[in-house]
Amino acid sequence: MSQSKPKPKDAKRLVVLSGRGERAPGAVWLVGAGPGDPELLTIKALKVLQTADVVVHDGLVSEEILDLAPEAARRISVAKRKSRHSYAQGEINAMLVAFAQDGLTVVRLKGGDPFIFGRGGEELEACRAAGVECRIVPGVTAALAAAADAGAPLTHRGSAQAVTFVTGHASAGDEPNLDWEGLAKANQTVVIYMGVSTAAGISTRLMGAGRLGSTPALIVANASRANERRIVTTLAGLPAAAAEVAGPALLIVGEAMALAQAGAAEIVAHVEVRERGAMS
Ligand SMILES: C[S@@+](CC[C@H](N)C(=O)[O-])C[C@H]1O[C@@H](n2cnc3c(N)ncnc32)[C@H](O)[C@@H]1O
Repeated sequence: MSQSKPKPKDAKRLVVLSGRGERAPGAVWLVGAGPGDPELLTIKALKVLQTADVVVHDGLVSEEILDLAPEAARRISVAKRKSRHSYAQGEINAMLVAFAQDGLTVVRLKGGDPFIFGRGGEELEACRAAGVECRIVPGVTAALAAAADAGAPLTHRGSAQAVTFVTGHASAGDEPNLDWEGLAKANQTVVIYMGVSTAAGISTRLMGAGRLGSTPALIVANASRANERRIVTTLAGLPAAAAEVAGPALLIVGEAMALAQAGAAEIVAHVEVRERGAMS
């Protein structure tokens, strides 16, 4: 009987088998899934995802992207949940290491980029400490998608000579300890991740350190997704605008956010809402 070609499923399996027909040591891939739109997944992320035995994913990864993993791959959500058990970071680290030590190809799929407020560094360290191979596939971080969809560049000659990504939350859940004086200087863009609930404090701090309340600002919730929402406002208007959004959102402050208006009327304190697609 002639030897038949491996079926697609077997072909995927070959990726994790050594030439001797034994399982090669497993590995962990920290993969950035991008901000939500499956078309913003990189080709490399897709290729790696298609080799997965196990996909360990967080809550920001869309179903459409999870559907791209092999049907046989085990999917484990480690999303933070209010009502059910949430995995502590230590448990996630241990899970990744254990699966890899079992010889499996583990894809740790994260929203955006694994190394931008994604705790990818902690997972990398855990793998290194256990002697497990860990490789990283970068992803499109939310700030890039938000700015692109709003038509507002994060750097712009003459009005944004730098861009800084900061967190709106310290690990204890409080306001972060940031260089407010530095961030308050004009001609730069500040992107605040996880800052919706601390928007009032952030706005007050930046203005207290000298940034004008009239500085253009933008809030983008669910960037790149069908339910994306953009609010054009000002630094002074950030708290009120933040109160209107639901879902993962970024606050972006800086003179270049004036371009989010796309030539429309002057930016006022608050609030102009555009649904996704209205400008892009
Ligand atoms: C734990 S951080 C993860 C960031 C992610 N690693 C990245 O590179 O985009 C979660 C925060 O990222 C932001 N975020 C993630 N996805 C987003 C999206 N599609 N639209 C707007 N903000 C998003 C929000 O500020 C959210 O609170």
